[in-house]
Amino acid sequence: MIFDTHAHYDDEQFDGDRDELLKSMPDLGVGTIVDVSATYESCEKVLALAGKYPHVYAAIGVHPDEVGELNEDKIQHMKELCCNKKVVAVGEIGLDYYWDNEPHEVQQKWFIRQLELAKEVNLPVIIHSREASQETFDIMKEHHAGSTGGVIHCYSGSKEMAAEYLKMGYYIGIGGVVTFKNARVMKEVAAAVPLERILIETDCPYLAPTPYRGKRNSSLFLPYVIEEIAKLKGIAPKTVEETTWENAMRMYKING
Ligand code: NI
Repeated sequence: MIFDTHAHYDDEQFDGDRDELLKSMPDLGVGTIVDVSATYESCEKVLALAGKYPHVYAAIGVHPDEVGELNEDKIQHMKELCCNKKVVAVGEIGLDYYWDNEPHEVQQKWFIRQLELAKEVNLPVIIHSREASQETFDIMKEHHAGSTGGVIHCYSGSKEMAAEYLKMGYYIGIGGVVTFKNARVMKEVAAAVPLERILIETDCPYLAPTPYRGKRNSSLFLPYVIEEIAKLKGIAPKTVEETTWENAMRMYKING
């Protein structure tokens, strides 16, 4: 079975067929999905989805593009939500200097606060880092992010930086980008990172793999990602599917 470790089925692009699609997943080979909140508002939405479907779990957190709306009261409310048994991570949290939606100091402040939240509730973190590779790593190091563990989602850095995250105990999240023809560095990373430390993800509705690049993504396209990783490593797709499933169960502390 396939484990989609990072999805956004609460997104409005799924309004037309969300229920049908999510219900069909286990029969189509996708056994578990973690739906990840990106805004404060979406925290309740991902939790509702996790409550409705046995195979869907939730992550509670606010994306760096959206942290301007945060305050300590909202963090406390998120902390309460984290007590729900279907919540398996704090995320997605981090830094995004590409869109630069919020000032860097504001992004950093709430990244650090949400790393602390993860420690308070004893959950792993889902890290979003774009055009802020070194800054993300430095904050994680300084604030002992290794103590909670977690995943660098949609990893887009160098092979060398990936090695540093592995040393910190983190997993590397790989999605549709690895299938793109021009994704040379990403292919190198996928080949270099030990299979035991790779998680498979969609980030759907975004980042659909080739041959669906640009279309709405869903967990049903993950076999293309698995095939590409298998090809890069010279192993069977089944091995990639099974090992990354076990990795996700271990990282999210979900019992068989
Ligand atoms: Ni995401």
